[in-house]
Amino acid sequence: MSNIHHQDTDTLAALVAPYRKTGVTKRSEDNIRQSVEELLSQMTLEEKIGQMSQCADSEFSFGADIEAGPTDVLVREGRVGSILGAFNSHRTFELQKLAVEQSRLGVPLFFNADVIHGYQTIFPIPLAWASSWNMEQIREACVIAAREATASGITYNHGPMVDISRDARWGRVMEGAGEDPYLGSLIAKAQVEGFQGDNLFNEETLIACLKHFVAYGASEAGRDYNTVDISEWMLRNIYLPPFQAGLEAGSASVMNAFNFYNGIPIAGNRFILNDLLRKELGFDGMLISDYGAIDEIYVHGAARDRKEAARLSLDASMDIEMVTQLYEQHLPALVAEGKIQIEQIDEAVRRILTYKYEIGLMDDPFRYIRPEKEVEYHFNAEHLQASLELARRSIVLLKNERRILPLPQEGLLQGDMTVALIGPFADSKDMLGTWQFSRYKEETVTLREGLQAKGIADTTLLYAQGSGVNEAIPGGIEQAVKTARAADVIVLALGEHSEMTGEAASRMDISIPAPQQRLAEELVKLGKPVVLVLTNGRPLVLDWFEQHVDAIVETWFLGSQAGHAIADVLLGDYNPSGKLTMSFPKHLGQTPIYYNHFNTGRPVTEENREEKYISKYLDGPNDPLYPFGYGLSYAHFTYSALKLDRDIIKQGESITVRATVTNTGNMAGEETVQMYIQDLYGSTVRPVKELKGFHKVYLQPGQSTGVEFTITEDDLKFCNAALEWVAEPGEFKVYVGTSSVDVLERTFELI
Ligand code: GLC
Repeated sequence: MSNIHHQDTDTLAALVAPYRKTGVTKRSEDNIRQSVEELLSQMTLEEKIGQMSQCADSEFSFGADIEAGPTDVLVREGRVGSILGAFNSHRTFELQKLAVEQSRLGVPLFFNADVIHGYQTIFPIPLAWASSWNMEQIREACVIAAREATASGITYNHGPMVDISRDARWGRVMEGAGEDPYLGSLIAKAQVEGFQGDNLFNEETLIACLKHFVAYGASEAGRDYNTVDISEWMLRNIYLPPFQAGLEAGSASVMNAFNFYNGIPIAGNRFILNDLLRKELGFDGMLISDYGAIDEIYVHGAARDRKEAARLSLDASMDIEMVTQLYEQHLPALVAEGKIQIEQIDEAVRRILTYKYEIGLMDDPFRYIRPEKEVEYHFNAEHLQASLELARRSIVLLKNERRILPLPQEGLLQGDMTVALIGPFADSKDMLGTWQFSRYKEETVTLREGLQAKGIADTTLLYAQGSGVNEAIPGGIEQAVKTARAADVIVLALGEHSEMTGEAASRMDISIPAPQQRLAEELVKLGKPVVLVLTNGRPLVLDWFEQHVDAIVETWFLGSQAGHAIADVLLGDYNPSGKLTMSFPKHLGQTPIYYNHFNTGRPVTEENREEKYISKYLDGPNDPLYPFGYGLSYAHFTYSALKLDRDIIKQGESITVRATVTNTGNMAGEETVQMYIQDLYGSTVRPVKELKGFHKVYLQPGQSTGVEFTITEDDLKFCNAALEWVAEPGEFKVYVGTSSVDVLERTFELI
């Protein structure tokens, strides 16, 4: 197990021990309020602004390189209140000592990090774990991530990312929960609860930060940092709900989005940050800018100079400036010129200090710095098992013709069957995805290792890389074809490397890179069964593969235990149960594409498909290749007996929806039964479908079970043109099924 401490753990723990305070108890709200006022009264203007400033400690940057003083000077001089990217207890101890012992007032630092899908033990990327539809396991993943991160002294997460995204060209789709506000809201809640627990004073909990407020995922053309231009009606119906859910779950912090809203960059947008987030949604936590976003108000061209940018951001109630120094450079002059009030600064510092008291830092500045817990927690067997279980559930089976999967494990073990494992992801450690900083990357389980761990001999599990991710390998295809000729079945492991998604990773072409496509085409010519296993961070255009291979397994980036999870599914030790939370387009030209679209005035129907003047393409279908909610199983689930206990409800009443689900397959498996509604007409147009509930059932072959949903008036509410959240009388359809497309339907009326 690699350990990067400059001293070994025991030495470091012994150094930290004298600094730990014992008998520290959680202060009351009143006591915290008084203590904050007392400390505030002692602070100079520069020290207050210091609390509002964050510097990056790590050698790497998340954006344009920012010039800042060396971290230890800034800390010693009280010019920063938080540090981004100090990734271990050695460094957090060093910096906390500087702050506590050498800055004038000794105010301890927050240590911030992007703990998006694990800290040292890496879990599936969020778009993958969203496909599990398993809130308990997502929450547990965040509990574990917080436990591991806080052991290193990290106290303030830059996550969860809860942006709705509908355009797979945008690289940051990997970081979110996909295209649906209902599911996105449940996952936002689960993550905030996982990170923060029920008590931020607990030293194993982490301040959560909902990001990126708001509608960053609507960037035009899927190009990162690009223009977002949506109505408030769309904002409130689609992009706001996951943030509302995260706020209701108690998130202590929010981070702004890079884009503008109504022409004003959100970092300086009073309506979005002050009026909507703070006043209307009641958020009184810490608002932190995204990386350089205050400076970018000027770059956007929404401020004459950087001083004006700083004023706009403070006026929008931005509390913490991430890594740039406009607050330090310009707020004193703005106060002196009367362009901002000292009360605005005090308000920001109050919020920051309040949380430093809330989490116990003020009374025990080293309480989170526990080298001994790093050893106990980081990458331990229990955490790896949790990562494996969530990874299994995140896998989505997209195709399985001729029941080629699961592969016959016995046959493979006895050498009766030979597999050719081919492709750049056949034996790759690049299975963690982006937005992770684990020092255990080399311990990532590859697909080949996962299959070998099942006991399959190398004489039965033949291997050839065949091609790189974006470049051909001289002779690679020839070698791969030769290897494949000697096998009965080909497992083709293709995809994107981890830095092809994430921030600043938009792609114009979301297909499998050409060298890999060429490899696939040569292998398919052999006429042998082909199983495509995908490692990727976004929906890809897979139409050629849908037509030319027998099975397709979407495995995303599954984290530290990836190879074991994929091997479990390929060999039938786990029956795949994942369901897509983002539509997979049939063609790039369809993006953005999503299930909860509007009817338009000229929808395509079965009857008018050949007509001209309807909303369709001349050169392809409207429908995605794989829709939201889609995912196959080795079992087979049929739906019947969809019934409503009534077909008319009054305001305030509810409807009970029942259906029967049967496993008509020959393998036990888990099914996520989905329930959608359609509001057939309203004072504004309404989506053709909206997810409003789901249940997981586990059925043995031949077993049936009843499922029950309750639809209440709240489920029928939407934001109308007057921006009121209302349920309107009218007719509705209810759909229940195995995906957003394959459903039974009934109707009811709200009067
Ligand atoms: C990056 C990202 C943000 C992240 C921050 C670094 O630019 O936009 O999500 O939290 O900067 O922490």
